Amino acid sequence: MAQIENIVTSGTFSLDGETHDVDNNVYLVGDAQNVIVIDPAHDVEKVREAIGGRNVSAILLTHGHDDHISEVIKLREMVDAPVLIHKEDQMLWDATHPNEQPDGNINDGDTFTIGNVELTAIHTPGHSPGCVVFHAPELEGGVLFSGDTLFNGGPGATGRSYSNFDVIIESIQNKLFTLPEHTRVLTGHGDSTVIGDEKPHLDEWIERGH
Ligand SMILES: [Fe+2]
Repeated sequence: MAQIENIVTSGTFSLDGETHDVDNNVYLVGDAQNVIVIDPAHDVEKVREAIGGRNVSAILLTHGHDDHISEVIKLREMVDAPVLIHKEDQMLWDATHPNEQPDGNINDGDTFTIGNVELTAIHTPGHSPGCVVFHAPELEGGVLFSGDTLFNGGPGATGRSYSNFDVIIESIQNKLFTLPEHTRVLTGHGDSTVIGDEKPHLDEWIERGH
């Protein structure tokens, strides 16, 4: 039975000439043999340790911001797994890794199987054009890996380059708030939440504009 492991790592996020300290949630979804890694941020040694001797079938990136992707080349070399990202975040990838390429793209509807569990990618632009989330309805009762699209308390930030508030709201409303209400939301930063706990607040977020 596949299980989720969460590792919290610390580092920085830089965009538009500003740098901020951030803590990121790294997720491993795996069984005894195989594992998928989502957003191996900041501390690859810690991620490597959590992987142990298991085979890494894919390294999935929810988007191209440097706090999520800066260490991914190091991890790819350590574990020999394909790194996948949505093509609309290629410009963010290129800004961080000008001399490297991802191994492939994540498209809306792509599925990734790990043990007896399937993760389905959903394209949710807004925080960045190539943001994706991963929905696993059979995993631990129903889980969404939301990256920086949906947090506990609101949508991801849209104040910087390549972000768009109206677009993230549309993604959340049409693609995430249509998921079962009991779905646990495992976020890219901070505490987890539940779809049904966030849904009633959509109008407040639209009103406040972030
Ligand atoms: Fe981000």
